[in-house]
Amino acid sequence: MKNIVILISGVGSNMEAIARACETERWPARIAAVISNRAEAGGLATAAARGIPVAVLSHRDHATREAFDAALADLIDGYAPDLVVLAGFMRILTPGFVERYAGRMINIHPSLLPGFPGLHTHARALEAGVKVHGASVHFVTPELDHGPIVIQGALDVLPSDTEESLAGRVLALEHRIYPRAVRWAIEDRLQVVAGVVQVTPPEPQLLVMA
Ligand code: GAR
Repeated sequence: MKNIVILISGVGSNMEAIARACETERWPARIAAVISNRAEAGGLATAAARGIPVAVLSHRDHATREAFDAALADLIDGYAPDLVVLAGFMRILTPGFVERYAGRMINIHPSLLPGFPGLHTHARALEAGVKVHGASVHFVTPELDHGPIVIQGALDVLPSDTEESLAGRVLALEHRIYPRAVRWAIEDRLQVVAGVVQVTPPEPQLLVMA
């Protein structure tokens, strides 16, 4: 049984999608803990209601980014994680923290990377006039939102789209791609070759939403 530790900062809908898939698809894994840097994160109650251990570690209680990341690593390691899953965890991580979980920490980002790293991805996609948008799951590396891509979900940007409508449809796509990526990682099916993620046996690493 492998241990998955999920880090959140807010609603936790991706965390919930992963927890649900873990249960219904009977993965050889458990969600060992959901950890938030914000006590008010809605996802904490959602996780607790599913019987998942939850913990809060506020970044405000730590003087430096390094001190927070060191305390966070101690907390995470208490759950003996095989995989650390960032699911709307809105913190920039220090290189030391990223290094510690190299190859066993993944993130979801609401854009088709390498396009639109950082914040406000949907507004920026609309502003840029892109016709295709989506979300990416990637291994976490020191450069923000730039690690090897595990899977992407893509959809058409509609002329009628607003930031809200686009965010909603991308989030629904996230809920489909993130559990797949986590499952592949848990099943030891991912390999990074020259910066490119391969799944063995092969699987579609692009999901296009009609
Ligand atoms: C998701 O859209 C996720 O891609 C995004 O935050 C949202 C969290 O939603 N993450 C980032 O922007 C990371 N840079 P959730 O809490 O309902 O899963």
